[in-house]
Amino acid sequence: MKRLVVYYSLSGNTEEAAKKIAEALDADLMRLETVKEMPKSFAAQIIVGGGQVMMKYVPKLKDYDKDINSYDEIILGSPIWNSKGVPAINAFLEDKVAAGRVTSLFFLSGGGEVKKGLDAITKMLPNLKNTVSLLDKKHEDSKDNDKKIQQFIEKIKS
Ligand SMILES: Cc1cc2nc3c(=O)[nH]c(=O)nc-3n(C[C@H](O)[C@H](O)[C@H](O)COP(=O)(O)O)c2cc1C
Repeated sequence: MKRLVVYYSLSGNTEEAAKKIAEALDADLMRLETVKEMPKSFAAQIIVGGGQVMMKYVPKLKDYDKDINSYDEIILGSPIWNSKGVPAINAFLEDKVAAGRVTSLFFLSGGGEVKKGLDAITKMLPNLKNTVSLLDKKHEDSKDNDKKIQQFIEKIKS
């Protein structure tokens, strides 16, 4: 089984989980990057990112450094942004073949409202089998992330 972990991460939380998952599964890793960069400050990210989500903006992504068609299975990692899905993830999932290869989703949130954002992502994933909810490292319960990642990996392998 040839696996690829694809993720988007603005402030490093999803990236940290992606690296752990890829290492444990002996999978390749691919970070999605938008051509137009997001602002550096969190306050500006909330305004710009929140606006993009509301407008259902689909950004242009930088060229991939992996041939996604050569993988049997994709494990997707996304932060939760508001209610209509993360723009870079929406751009990736416009490729329906790639979306169909996603079997597993890990998502990061600040511990707030996630249902709408999560629904927006999962409805684009027809073959989704495994999902795990992880918390931003600023949240006190993020100490449970490693245990949850371990269980997620076991489900993917089984
Ligand atoms: C634009 C924006 C919107 C967000 N919306 C939510 C939200 O609706 N609910 C929530 O729990 N966290 C929300 N967050 C927090 C992120 O999901 C959380 O910080 C996550 O760990 C970020 O992952 P990253 O470090 O990989 O970018 C939002 C963050 C940003 C930048």
